[in-house]
Amino acid sequence: MSQTVLQARDLTRHYEVSQGFMKPKAVVKALNGVSFELKAGKTLAVVGESGCGKSTLARQLTLIEAPTAGSLVLDGVDIAHAGKAELKALRSKVQMVFQNPYASLNPRQKVGDQLGEPLLINTKLTAKEREDKVKAMMKRVGLRPEHYYRYPHMFSGGQRQRIAIARAMMLQPQIVIADEPTSALDVSIQAQVLNLFMDLQEEFNTAYVFISHNLAVVEHVADDLMVMYLGRAVEVGSKETIYARPLHPYTQALLSATPSIYPEDRSIKIKIHGELPSPLNPPSGCAFHKRCPYATELCGREVPQLRTLEGREVACHHAETINA
Ligand SMILES: Nc1ncnc2c1ncn2[C@@H]1O[C@H](COP(=O)(O)OP(=O)(O)O)[C@@H](O)[C@H]1O
Ligand code: SF4
Ligand SMILES: [Mg+2]
Repeated sequence: MSQTVLQARDLTRHYEVSQGFMKPKAVVKALNGVSFELKAGKTLAVVGESGCGKSTLARQLTLIEAPTAGSLVLDGVDIAHAGKAELKALRSKVQMVFQNPYASLNPRQKVGDQLGEPLLINTKLTAKEREDKVKAMMKRVGLRPEHYYRYPHMFSGGQRQRIAIARAMMLQPQIVIADEPTSALDVSIQAQVLNLFMDLQEEFNTAYVFISHNLAVVEHVADDLMVMYLGRAVEVGSKETIYARPLHPYTQALLSATPSIYPEDRSIKIKIHGELPSPLNPPSGCAFHKRCPYATELCGREVPQLRTLEGREVACHHAETINA
């Protein structure tokens, strides 16, 4: 068994938002109690529609924000009880790759200098040693030595994402959180960047939380899968188990909308109607009930909890009957 590097329990992030002058503040339940474990060198893919809370989750995992409730244990340290120095050390163990690499790079700083910055801040390496390490990492991600002296605008989107990945990997972090890292790239470039992620994982044994709205994108990178709906996990398990036989109607709908990876059982065809409800005013009971073809009166009344069924966890009152 490989070691657990990250453990989330009921991780929750709510935002208070103003509804206007003299009106009470409203609460957006962006992330509403999510639990999972991430093993060393493995990839957990987090999938769900835009607005379901994926980026909010990423901001908790990278310690950019503090969760409203729940616990987060990184490399054995509970962040709720970590002091300042411990938090700083943890931050260098968890790096992030964003959807838009241009926004995360400094336009006025040479790429080589940006890549060297994490080493400057976190290590005692000399300038020469840092430069050598940066150049080695640049080579590793498919950039050329002369790129060291160039500025971000001189690169293509795919190359910029390689730079962002190189920067995330500079300190050989235990964990990388990648939030839709290929969504802004041309389809032809996406596969190359996904392969790079895979190669680096093998080389450095990095664990990934790989976030995407697209099940086809995560097919090749994921070990485990967490499907999210409106701030909650609705199905969690190994990728093979879930792709072979999804049990939650929402997972079934997502997979049947991705025909390239769902050849086994064409009989399940669910179309999702309507928009994702607002986390400001979520539906009662199962948040999916207004869009679910199997919804009953119970579904509108009671929130289904995750429970184990056929080797994965699923949050649906009627999973057995639906999949009989
Ligand atoms: N800082 C914030 N303040 C208020 N609402 C937020 C904030 N960040 C995210 N949200 C809301 O939380 C929900 C989830 O957003 P997000 O995590 O960005 O979803 P995703 O990344 O899956 O598209 C959305 O309804 C979004 O509007
Ligand atoms: S709990 Fe009910 S509404 Fe929710 S997914 Fe299951 S059947 Fe559909
Ligand atoms: Mg997002």
